[in-house]
Formats: sequence, C-alpha cells, structure tokens
Amino acid sequence: MNFQLSRRSARPDPAAFIAANLLITPVPSLPDVRLYTAHPASGLAQLAGNDTNDDAPPPYWAYQWAGGLVLARHILDRPETVRGRRVLDLGAGSGLVGIAAAKAGARSVLAAEIDSNGIAAIGLNAALNDVALTAACDDLTNGPPPEVDLVLVGDLFYAPDLASRVTAFLDRCVSAGIEVLVGDPGRAYLPHVRLRLVAEHAVADVGTASTATTKPSAVYSFV
Ligand SMILES: C[S@@+](CC[C@H](N)C(=O)[O-])C[C@H]1O[C@@H](n2cnc3c(N)ncnc32)[C@H](O)[C@@H]1O
Repeated sequence: MNFQLSRRSARPDPAAFIAANLLITPVPSLPDVRLYTAHPASGLAQLAGNDTNDDAPPPYWAYQWAGGLVLARHILDRPETVRGRRVLDLGAGSGLVGIAAAKAGARSVLAAEIDSNGIAAIGLNAALNDVALTAACDDLTNGPPPEVDLVLVGDLFYAPDLASRVTAFLDRCVSAGIEVLVGDPGRAYLPHVRLRLVAEHAVADVGTASTATTKPSAVYSFV
C-alpha cells in the first residue's frame, strides 16, 4: 500500500489513500465521466483509522448511486439546465452531480458533503474530469438558503431524519426563489407529494461495474 499516515492517528491521508487504492472507472452510462471507485480490495475501512468509530459515516462517496447517476445524465443531456447558473450539489458524495454540472457549463458549483473523506474524493474526481468546483465539508441543511440559482439533490432520501431535514431545507430554498432538482430511484423517504416528474431513465444502482443492476430512476422538480 502506498499511502501516508497522519501523526494524529493511524488514519491515512484520505486523498493519498484514494489515489493509491481506488480504481479510476468510467461511470456506467456516462462514459465521459470517470471517478475513483471502490472495489473489493480497496481496504476502505482503513480510512476510519484504527480506533473503532461507530459515528464514522459510511463511505458513500466511493460508489455511484442511482439518484446521482440519473441527475448527472439529465444535466449532460440538457446542459441548459445548469448553463451559466450557480449550482449547489447537496450531499455530493463522489461529486458526480456537481462534476456533470460543471462539465455542462454551470457558472459555479458548490459541492457540500459531510464526510471529509468524501471531500478528498470530490477534489480528486474534479481534477480527474478537468473541472473546477468548490467542496465544502458542511451540513447546510440547518442553515439559510445558499446564494445559488439551482440546488441539485442526488439520492439523499434514504433515511427518515435526513429526508425531513433536507425537505425543510429545500422548502426554504424554493421560498427564496431557488430552483431544486432531485434525482432518485424511489428510496423509502422520497417526499413524492412535493415532486413533479421531469425525466426518467434506467441507471445502475450502487455498483462499480457497467454490469450493475439497473433501476428505474427519475429526475423531479421539487415544488
Ligand atoms: C447516497 S449518497 C449520494 C451521493 C451523490 N449525491 C450521488 O448521488 O452519487 C448520499 C451522500 O450524502 C451525504 N450526506 C448525508 N447527509 C448530508 C448532509 N446533511 N449534508 C451534506 N451531505 C450529506 C453522505 O455522506 C453521502 O455521501
């Protein structure tokens, strides 16, 4: 293994670890986008350090999610959705949605993610795809609407408490005149009554290969 250990703990430097241990793979159905992606031998548990930390977030950033895939595909199919606009990718994970927005001509992209390992992955993935974005390790859902024109939400309705906070945040964004698009494969806590269908595609769900099972997924406008 070729990664550096920090002095504070045995936790490796996230960016060095990701670059050394994850595979650069094309995104299923979006071959122009490549991401550092986990595989069975990645050893991702090492990023949590030697200490058992039950609060460590799962490494969602190391995988591709149907909600992000369908939203990224929609943006790349219809670049006018983001062109010239200030965009927030909320719950950015790998940064896929924000990267698609940047590639499609967004004026600026803020990728917000609560997992610091994800922030490292977003930086590496942005560089890999030759786009510029700002990554913020922050939970914006408790705060005021950000200064953006469009909020993109890929696959963030998988837990009840998170879904409530995200819905309340998106309410404040819409009230402030910000457009909101949600990409989702129909997770359990998707607020269906708040959504208007914009587009549908079958995309791969959590998987590393183009052979991953596809799942009907949709882009919605949050109203
Ligand atoms: C299922 S993944 C989806 C990632 C990405 N949007 C995609 O579709 O590929 C959800 C991500 O949201 C992040 N997340 C969860 N709660 C968050 C919050 N309050 N603010 C920012 N990110 C959050 C998680 O750490 C995780 O990386």
